[in-house]
Amino acid sequence: MYQVAVLLSGSGSNLQALLDAEAAGALGAEVVLVVSDRADASGLQRALARQVAAAYVPLPATPRGADRAAVRAAWERRLADVVAAFAPDLVLLAGFMRILSPAFLDRFPNRVINQHPALLPDDGGDTYVTSTGLVIPALRGAHVVAEALERGLPITGCSIHRVTPRVDDGPVLARAEVPVLPGDTPETLHERIKVEEHRLIVEVVRSLAQEHACAEREVQRR
Ligand code: GAR
Repeated sequence: MYQVAVLLSGSGSNLQALLDAEAAGALGAEVVLVVSDRADASGLQRALARQVAAAYVPLPATPRGADRAAVRAAWERRLADVVAAFAPDLVLLAGFMRILSPAFLDRFPNRVINQHPALLPDDGGDTYVTSTGLVIPALRGAHVVAEALERGLPITGCSIHRVTPRVDDGPVLARAEVPVLPGDTPETLHERIKVEEHRLIVEVVRSLAQEHACAEREVQRR
């Protein structure tokens, strides 16, 4: 079975969508591990409620004068060691609010994907062309739902992409557009984006699991 490790920092509603699909026999994959950098991430409880291994790997506070880069690198190594112990086929960043360096990504080559609550283009550029031909900015960073509202965008959405060392970049596997409605707040808009994310993440994991199974069968046939 295709095995998935999920890294998250918050509520974990996307994790829940995966767990529900798995329980319904509709995922073709198994969530084997959930890791968080936050002890209060309710995603950890969602994992435990389904008997999925859950780990809290805190980024230590760095006292003044401490070597921040060294503390961070050691934390990333610990995080990678925990994930590697489960040998997952896929590492999903589902609301994981830390940037991972190449040192982490190199441990899981071509296996790390990220959910991003805005529309990202295929070419890594600064704009995205919507299905209706509208050119909008490609929003990157941690506050893109609020930014879509601040910039008065009529449309935003979500993307799932492979993770590369460039933040919120890398080949896009799936995306969905979501209209911004009059009176939207960051919260109402994010909730509607999440509805699309929940659908997309199940589709993407299912399809990656199927590709993996085909590749395995091909190797066995040789
Ligand atoms: C999702 O909307 C995801 O796209 C976003 O965090 C949310 C997690 O929701 N990720 C980022 O902003 C990453 N920079 P959840 O905890 O309810 O699954």
